[in-house]
Amino acid sequence: MAFFERLVDAFYEGVATDEVLLPLYPEQPDLTGARHRLTLFLAQYWGGPTTYMEERGHPKLRMRHFPFHVGPLERDRWLAHMAAAVGATCDEAVPDGTADELMAYFAPAAEHLRNDTGLPISSSNPRTPLA
Ligand code: HEM
Repeated sequence: MAFFERLVDAFYEGVATDEVLLPLYPEQPDLTGARHRLTLFLAQYWGGPTTYMEERGHPKLRMRHFPFHVGPLERDRWLAHMAAAVGATCDEAVPDGTADELMAYFAPAAEHLRNDTGLPISSSNPRTPLA
């Protein structure tokens, strides 16, 4: 959990300075709640405590992102901040390969959350790795 707290703190430091992403956050400029929810989600997704589920129910991430415009620009900026956070957090204390494993999850997951086409998600076909 401490790892994901550090990762998400670093990620939201980037989001806080992003003029495209920040306006999308309903509680901005206060990102405390968003930080809390992403930390719990990631900890749960990677096999940690299931507090996210207890607090928020089933993640249903695609549905939860429908209120926000997630196009290629938003996806790429989100991924850029996450890649920077992964780089800053995966130091020598973190097992080798962790950064690659995380980005191999985040890149297709962010594409999956894109909701700007109106097409069913099965039509999405990312051709190049985004990380
Ligand atoms: C791998 C990709 C992503 C993951 C795993 C992720 C995860 C999450 C989670 C867990 C929440 C909180 C859901 C809840 O319990 O209410 C959330 C909220 C949100 N996400 Fe994402 N997200 C991703 C990509 C994106 C992208 C690309 C955008 C770009 C616009 C975005 C914008 C937002 C916004 C604006 C919120 C609302 C903040 C809040 O919780 O108050 N997310 N995301």
